[in-house]
Amino acid sequence: MAQLWGGRFTKETDQLVYNFNASISFDQKFYREDMEGSMAHVKMLAASGIITEEERDKILKGIEGILADVESGELEISSEYEDIHSFVEANLIERIGDAGKKLHTGRSRNDQVALDMKLYTRKEIVNLKGLVKDLLLVLQNLMKEHVDTFMPGFTHLQKAQPITLAHHFGAYMEMFKRDYGRLCDIYDRMNYCPLGSGALAGTTYPLDRNMTAELLGFKGPTLNSMDSVSDRDYVIELLGAMSTIMMHLSRFSEEIIIWNSNEYRFVELDDAYSTGSSIMPQKKNPDIAELVRGKTGRVYGALMQILTTMKGIPLAYNKDMQEDKEFTFDAIDTVKGCLALFTGMIKTMTVNKDVMECSAKNGFTNATDAADYLVNHGVPFRDAHGIVGQLVLYCIEKRISLDDMTIEEYKRISPVFEEDIYDAISLKTCVEKRETIGAPGRASMEQVIAMNEEWLDHIERGV
Ligand code: ARG
Repeated sequence: MAQLWGGRFTKETDQLVYNFNASISFDQKFYREDMEGSMAHVKMLAASGIITEEERDKILKGIEGILADVESGELEISSEYEDIHSFVEANLIERIGDAGKKLHTGRSRNDQVALDMKLYTRKEIVNLKGLVKDLLLVLQNLMKEHVDTFMPGFTHLQKAQPITLAHHFGAYMEMFKRDYGRLCDIYDRMNYCPLGSGALAGTTYPLDRNMTAELLGFKGPTLNSMDSVSDRDYVIELLGAMSTIMMHLSRFSEEIIIWNSNEYRFVELDDAYSTGSSIMPQKKNPDIAELVRGKTGRVYGALMQILTTMKGIPLAYNKDMQEDKEFTFDAIDTVKGCLALFTGMIKTMTVNKDVMECSAKNGFTNATDAADYLVNHGVPFRDAHGIVGQLVLYCIEKRISLDDMTIEEYKRISPVFEEDIYDAISLKTCVEKRETIGAPGRASMEQVIAMNEEWLDHIERGV
């Protein structure tokens, strides 16, 4: 047992208590951030005259050595230490002697861990943004490719009106653009440095908190030391944003699973993104999409966990907050994996354009347009609705679509119909006429695609 706080105690910690309390098994995940934070702290201690320059250089060299040895695998982070902070400090003292004992001057593990967690999540936000961007780029390409791929749009999972696949993908484009924006917002809001807040009430040393904040790439120091050590809002916000990403991925996965089924055959997943059955030789299963859908629960779980953990904690730091890590780390890794796999899956899937188009034709998705045709010829909408209802019934009985009816058949139900009805209810016309911004018509789709292009260009350039 290697602890930093033995002085006040007369007895060894019970082994079970030690194990229960220790966090090294999971906080080693941010060993790099912990050492980066320590290096910034030490530079500031020297600049503020709290330690000498020689001491600073010794400590920095020592930490750099530990970092290099951990990265190369030469030094193992072992469970003999209570947490990553103790591991670094103990190894430092072992390597450089007494100077190492000055590392923790003017610092508490409370502000240290608050910093480590922030540095780690901040880095992961950047990674997540990159993965969402990759997905957006794939979606943008798919949109460009499928401006003329007709398909039925659904409400209640019943065919409703014709749309294009570009329009359908465009809906997800919007969702993931918002997700991207949420990650940016969180980054901006969390980007203040808690280091220098001490255990809860700052310190009596003349620390330069602006300097450490700047060295670590923060916008500035946090403004209340009690809040600094006990704020995990950014973890909650990140888990909220990741839950929303998963909710979007899950809805999309559900659609891909349906579209990939034998009944729909709108798409076919690539062999590399499908799995087989151990018993049924014909099977090609969409396991990746199902797992993404399933893992959504795992990320929601992490959000609920941290919200519940935080809800009753009085100011300032309490050990409950150690529970902010495991589920959050797991959720971050889960979301990153899901984003990467989902992107690969939709990039490689084959779209069966003819099946989609045929499905749009056969589901009376142009019934609204047939009613609009009558309205344009002076029939009140309610009457037009009734007439087209009769047409649909007639077609269902005859197992044909509206496009297959002869003009005589049309006229028998309403004499208002003329030859131009066929053009008025063709899929192409139905889609093209929907030209309001955000609608599936080619002109408005192209406008939106151009706007997305500009947006993507902006984020590509980091503005
Ligand atoms: N392992 C602790 C955590 O993750 C580090 C902070 C410990 N602070 C303390 N006062 N016990 O929260």
